[in-house]
This record gives sequence, C-alpha cells and structure tokens, in this order.
Amino acid sequence: MTSVSSALAGKVALVTGASSGIGEATAVALAAAGAKVAIAARRADRLEALAARIEEAGGAALRIEADVTSNDDVTAMVDKVVAEWGRLDILVNNAGVMLLSPAADAELDDWRRMVELNLLALMGVTKAALPHLRAAKGHIVNVSSIAGRVANPGASGYAATKFGVVGFSESLRREVYADKVRVTVIEPGLVRTELGDHVTNPAAKAGLDQRLAAMEALTAEDIAAAILYAVGQPAHVNVNEIVIRPTDQER
Ligand SMILES: NC(=O)c1ccc[n+]([C@@H]2O[C@H](COP(=O)([O-])OP(=O)(O)OC[C@H]3O[C@@H](n4cnc5c(N)ncnc54)[C@H](OP(=O)(O)O)[C@@H]3O)[C@@H](O)[C@H]2O)c1
Repeated sequence: MTSVSSALAGKVALVTGASSGIGEATAVALAAAGAKVAIAARRADRLEALAARIEEAGGAALRIEADVTSNDDVTAMVDKVVAEWGRLDILVNNAGVMLLSPAADAELDDWRRMVELNLLALMGVTKAALPHLRAAKGHIVNVSSIAGRVANPGASGYAATKFGVVGFSESLRREVYADKVRVTVIEPGLVRTELGDHVTNPAAKAGLDQRLAAMEALTAEDIAAAILYAVGQPAHVNVNEIVIRPTDQER
C-alpha cells in the first residue's frame, strides 16, 4: 500500500481473518481505497504488524483480537467497530480453515471446527452486524470457495461448509436487498496462503502440495482486487458472485 485514494472514503469496513492471506490483503486494499478498516483475528502480533503497515501508508486501522466462533467475541467485535467509528458499511466474512481429508479418514473434530468457523461463525457475525449494515445500506462479502461450487473428492467436509456459505448468502441477499444491503460471494480457486498449512491428513496434504507445485496459483492480492471491485461498484450494482480460478486450474 503506497497511498490512500478516496474511492471508499467515509466507509467503515470489518474484515475477519485479517491476520494473514486473503483477509490481510483485503484489509490493505480497502484501506488503500480510503475505507477505515477494522481487522479481526486471534493472532495479536500479526494484527499489530498489519495495523502499523496500514497506518504508515496513511490509512486507518482498528485491531480487534477475536475468535469468531465465540458469541461473546463476535458481539464485542461488532460493538467495538461501531463504538469507535459510529457505523459499519462493509463486512468481509473471510476467516476460515480447510482441513482436507477423505470422508472415511476424517477427524470429527476437524469437521466440527470447519462447520463452526467457516459456516456458523460467518452466520453469527453476519447476524450481529446486520442492524448496522442495514442502517448504512451496507455490503456483505462472504468468502466461500470454488469448493462451494464444485465438490471434489477428498474435500467433503470443507465443501459442505462452503456450499453452506453459498446457500446462506443467496437466501440472505433476498432478505436484505430491499433495504439496499448488497451481498457478494467470492469463490476463489487455489490461492497461495497459509490455509494448507493446517491440513494434517498426509495424503490430502501431499495432493494439495502437488497441485500447488504444478500451477501458478492465485495470490491473496488477486482476491483482494476482486473484493475491491465488488464493494467499489455504485450503490445500484449488486455483484452477487465472483468465481476466480488460476488460469492453470481446471476444476
Ligand atoms: N487459499 C485458498 O486456496 C482459498 C481458496 C478458496 C477460499 N479460501 C478461503 O479464504 C479464506 C481465507 O483463507 P486464506 O487462504 O487467506 O488462509 P489463511 O492465511 O490461513 O487465513 C485464515 C484466516 O482466518 C483466521 N482465523 C482462523 N480461525 C479463526 C477464528 N476462530 N477466529 C477468527 N479468525 C480466525 C486466521 O487468523 P488467526 O489464526 O490469527 O485467528 C487467518 O487470518 C478462508 O475462508 C478460506 O476458506 C481460500
């Protein structure tokens, strides 16, 4: 981020999972476009470094240490944004985890973790933020995945959560459009981030590493640019879905 433009001046954004990868790049992009950005995640050191990076470039950042699977943290997170900046215009529901494994070998706790974070927490954050987003005629961006459109073997638990995000988002869009609240689902293919680091199933990990080695994967900044495109549209334009794959990725 080199300078701050005025495209999103006056807007307040909240990005979950902002401590790395897509969330971090999105926070930087939103701040560079002039939005004030609340950055939420569990790793305080990463948030501190990101806030410093945004502020050094002339942007405004608010650090919020939060586990979005905790109802109390979610309430406190949304309250903190509104207490500090008086409004909430853009919510980017990005926090997620991808614990790949074939269904037969899956750890139930991994499935539970993915459902609780990728789906339930996204729904809970949305509900907590909705009154403020309605008041601001705001925008909700839900980061799903190509795994929410194409169900590949070896990813059943993850796909279940991301198909869930797509279903939730479309139903939500139809509930809030009349209040001028926009809803966008982002469905990236393979992006080079820390996401794969948490995969413990050896075959799934090897398969993922092999796919990444064989292609020029997307960068977190590629996805941030897509999110910026969606939220930067005029108020009458509701970009509902962006599927974005590496050119090298077939499915
Ligand atoms: N990378 C890809 O290929 C890809 C493709 C399609 C979709 N996506 C989606 O993109 C999103 C971001 O992933 P990424 O690729 O950027 O991976 P990442 O670098 O691992 O980022 C995940 C983020 O989620 C946060 N997070 C995890 N658990 C959390 C919790 N309980 N409460 C709050 N924050 C939590 C992490 O922060 P803390 O650990 O500090 O809490 C981190 O900031 C995910 O929803 C993922 O499913 C990624």
